[in-house]
Amino acid sequence: MSTTIPLQARLPKTYKITSMKRETEQVTSCTFDVSLGSRPGQFVMLWLPGVEEIPMSVANDDGKQLTVTFFAVGETTKKLAGLKKGDLVGLRGPFGTFYEWKPRQKLALVAGGYGAAPMYFTAREAAKDGCTLFIFVGARSKEHLLYLSAFKKLPRTTLYISTDDGSQGFKGFNVQLLEKMLKEGKQALTIDQIFACGPERMLKAVSDLSFRKKILSQLSLERYMKCGFGLCGNCVVDPLGIRLCIDGPVVKNDLARKITEFGKYHRDELGRKRVL
Ligand SMILES: Cc1cc2nc3c(=O)[nH]c(=O)nc-3n(C[C@H](O)[C@H](O)[C@H](O)COP(=O)(O)OP(=O)(O)OC[C@H]3O[C@@H](n4cnc5c(N)ncnc54)[C@H](O)[C@@H]3O)c2cc1C
Ligand code: FES
Repeated sequence: MSTTIPLQARLPKTYKITSMKRETEQVTSCTFDVSLGSRPGQFVMLWLPGVEEIPMSVANDDGKQLTVTFFAVGETTKKLAGLKKGDLVGLRGPFGTFYEWKPRQKLALVAGGYGAAPMYFTAREAAKDGCTLFIFVGARSKEHLLYLSAFKKLPRTTLYISTDDGSQGFKGFNVQLLEKMLKEGKQALTIDQIFACGPERMLKAVSDLSFRKKILSQLSLERYMKCGFGLCGNCVVDPLGIRLCIDGPVVKNDLARKITEFGKYHRDELGRKRVL
């Protein structure tokens, strides 16, 4: 194996959990006593000994501690949700590309599902660079909204909330609300870039909107990941053959629009096509 791949990428090292925070009924944030120097948008491979190793976006890495925020959907994430302070978990990384901005830019951040967590990390770092932030958080209903109080504490930030059932904020999708705010006459938002993280259908809607409006965007695309650093080929996308663990997960919209499977299908752990 190449010696240019750092040891932290090849071998998981175990770290102690310093806190477990229940965010919603299904979502938990887990913080570790380590900083891996992650940038917003990057991910780690998280290993539960005897269970599985899975990719997780970094929800915060402040130079002292690292947090991931996850949905308990299957065996590994349900076991992870049951751990407590002091338990050991393996981490490798950080991996992949990250969101990029220039100081004092106006950014629209679109977050769906657990995408609110990496979007919070992005917002926090971009705020330090003097950026003005318009944050569009969406969920099925108000119980599933994530990170609202954390977003509200950031400077130069306007928070827009949407729920599919209208139980809080705008009734509809966050991308519809963004589109509405981009054409509100004299009050219309002017923005330099859109960043998005969430379900792929939401990302496709952001991609189409930013293409139509000629606004630059960066999207976090997820595929089934095993190694996390370009070896196994599990995360390649059609027809480009690029590996999303190293050329992604954050991709610029012009690249995303060349990925023909984007918004249509992905591949499972055995490489079989799964329609979205
Ligand atoms: C770059 C990246 C970042 C992610 N960040 C987060 C996050 O911040 N929070 C979060 O809750 N989830 C995140 N996920 C998804 C997370 O990896 C899966 O939900 C998790 O692996 C499920 O594992 P499980 O054993 O609990 O469930 P399983 O029952 O094994 O899987 C449930 C579903 O999760 C997906 N999945 C399972 N294993 C993988 C894998 N190795 N790679 C990709 N998808 C997989 C599949 O769609 C599968 O159908 C991310 C995925 C990727 C690729
Ligand atoms: S996960 Fe192995 S090449 Fe991307």
